[in-house]
Amino acid sequence: MKILVTGGLGFIGSHTVVELQNEGFDVVIIDNLSNSSLEVLDGIERITGKKPHFENIDLREKKSVQDLFVKYQDINGVIHFAASKAVGESVENPLLYYENNINTLVYLLQELQAKQKTHFIFSSSCTVYGQATTMPITENAPVQQAMSPYGNTKQIGEEIITDVAKVTTINAILLRYFNPIGAHPSAEIGELPIGIPQNLVPFITQTAIGLRKELSVFGDDYPTADGTAIRDYIHVVDLAKAHVVALQRLLENKNTEKVETFNIGTGTGSSVLEVITTFEKVSNTKLPYKIVARREGDVIEAFANTDKANSVLGWKAQSTLEEALASAWKWEQKIRR
Ligand code: WQD
Repeated sequence: MKILVTGGLGFIGSHTVVELQNEGFDVVIIDNLSNSSLEVLDGIERITGKKPHFENIDLREKKSVQDLFVKYQDINGVIHFAASKAVGESVENPLLYYENNINTLVYLLQELQAKQKTHFIFSSSCTVYGQATTMPITENAPVQQAMSPYGNTKQIGEEIITDVAKVTTINAILLRYFNPIGAHPSAEIGELPIGIPQNLVPFITQTAIGLRKELSVFGDDYPTADGTAIRDYIHVVDLAKAHVVALQRLLENKNTEKVETFNIGTGTGSSVLEVITTFEKVSNTKLPYKIVARREGDVIEAFANTDKANSVLGWKAQSTLEEALASAWKWEQKIRR
């Protein structure tokens, strides 16, 4: 029985492959290496003692997707990470996002339907909620008008999966991630942002290591306790483990609906300034930063109500913000050595 992990050399994908192999699953990674590198495969092997099958495939090539399912007849579950995920880039280049995030999902689902496959885990995002009106955010919070083409591809992806599951053998779990941060405690794998990091934590660690002059804090005039925006920062290993639990739920036919949705976060909100002070504490460094204008499209506050994930999925985040930031710092120091 094999588990196909698309985008399996990416940040969240690679950490999920480690947890799958730790649980004894036989993993096939497909990745087009557009936002990852082959060294990640070696990192996974160093951690787990096992090298996953790897296919350098671009899911935009429909024939390649078809050939994959001929080569691996015993794929029993799919975890679909492969997608472009930079909010700003999606605004500049929407068609890249609609082609890479939607067409590829359609080709994948077409193969699953043709081969009567069943178990599908989808990488979704809290971005579908936009600025939710009630905190913490439950899965029943309304999906709001997307604030970027990237966010729209996640909403459309969820709708496509829901429509397809209604008329095929496919059962799906949609995992709406909050803010993944950190790295595997071994520091053998972690986040490898290309160019200037868009996300807060890699920008912090690159500033602390001296790669960046200072962090720009995007606004301190939000209606929050310290004026900076609030997010739910979850250790990437906790997030990875949620995928294994979700897959096992489907494999054991425990799902009560054809498509189930779970918010995957810690349930705790942290402001940008809180992240900075926590990072300074765990790294014993002073982080240079300046307050600048708000970033277009940012929400004020987003953190998860994790009751459903805890009680129905049977999963709960274990790591603290300190532990997650310490793992991010350890990883940054490792790769800059
Ligand atoms: C977090 C906070 C920024 C950088 C995005 C996507 C989401 C997911 C995670 C893919 C915000 C502030 C950031 C900086 C800052 N991506 N910030 N200075 O925007 O919550 O979520 O990434 O799935 O879908 O929307 O994450 O890390 O970019 O920002 O002040 O240099 O840090 O304003 O308040 P975000 P982020």
